[in-house]
Amino acid sequence: MSEAGINAAADGQVPAAGASGDEVLRTEGIAKTFGAIVALRHIDLELHRGEVLGLVGDNGAGKSTFVKILTGFHRPDAGKIFLEGKEVRFRSVKEARAYGIETVYQDLALIPQLPVYLNLFLNREHTSLANIGWLSKHKMRRLARQYLDEIKVNIPNIDAEVESLSGGQRQAIAVARATQQQAKILLLDEPLAAMGAKESAMIIDLVKDLSRNRKETMIIIDHNHTHLFELCDRLAVIQRGTITFDKPVKDTSIEELTDLMVSSYRAQIQAGQRELRAS
Ligand SMILES: Nc1ncnc2c1ncn2[C@@H]1O[C@H](COP(=O)(O)OP(=O)(O)OP(=O)(O)O)[C@@H](O)[C@H]1O
Ligand SMILES: [Mg+2]
Repeated sequence: MSEAGINAAADGQVPAAGASGDEVLRTEGIAKTFGAIVALRHIDLELHRGEVLGLVGDNGAGKSTFVKILTGFHRPDAGKIFLEGKEVRFRSVKEARAYGIETVYQDLALIPQLPVYLNLFLNREHTSLANIGWLSKHKMRRLARQYLDEIKVNIPNIDAEVESLSGGQRQAIAVARATQQQAKILLLDEPLAAMGAKESAMIIDLVKDLSRNRKETMIIIDHNHTHLFELCDRLAVIQRGTITFDKPVKDTSIEELTDLMVSSYRAQIQAGQRELRAS
């Protein structure tokens, strides 16, 4: 959708590459608490250009919090973020987006009462609801149709209100909105949550297409190990706010990952039982 230039800010403000090799993102010691809850203790992670990283972890492990820090939604209490070797501190989601970080949040953030094509243009640098008039509706419809066809997303009617669409179609629109232009990093927080088999397949094909044909650099959070092995180059596990496992997909297996998650679950249960007996 280059004609629209709807993510033009990302092009203008991206800092010059200063990293060694193909490292796009590095975090060092990212920590975040919410009152008494320690969401993240110490996250050290690297992401390379064109790599698809799967992030795994139990409910409440800190995955979404980490993603929200990378997108400028939360500020870390401690730690550093480097983009292409240069330290960055995002004060807002807008600022992170200007660096080319695009997200599909777990909680989708579409506006159900607006048609598909307007949702595709929402929250873009030049097209917030307040000044969406700068593009004609005719042009937006045409660009929306063109882009959805290009990424093979099947939405028959782009004038339909989003609330009338299926969960899978909504998810596809959220992904489409985040990928209208090549992002430096695309973050997908549970893009397949609550999807049926057919709808999951649509999103999986879309993500594969972005990876294969656009060489997008991505972090995908998903609880389904089969999906992750299908989509990712590397897998990292967050447990109790730290990374406990980080391996290329080719060097691990669904069994190893499942064992890790189950043994940590058993250890938690046993620790809980010991605490109960002691009390
Ligand atoms: N805004 C917030 N205020 C208070 N606590 C929060 C907030 N956001 C997250 N938390 C807490 O931080 C911890 C990590 O939450 P997070 O959403 O990052 O987990 P997650 O790994 O994404 O889990 P899930 O797999 O269920 O999505 C949880 O204990 C959660 O309750
Ligand atoms: Mg989450």
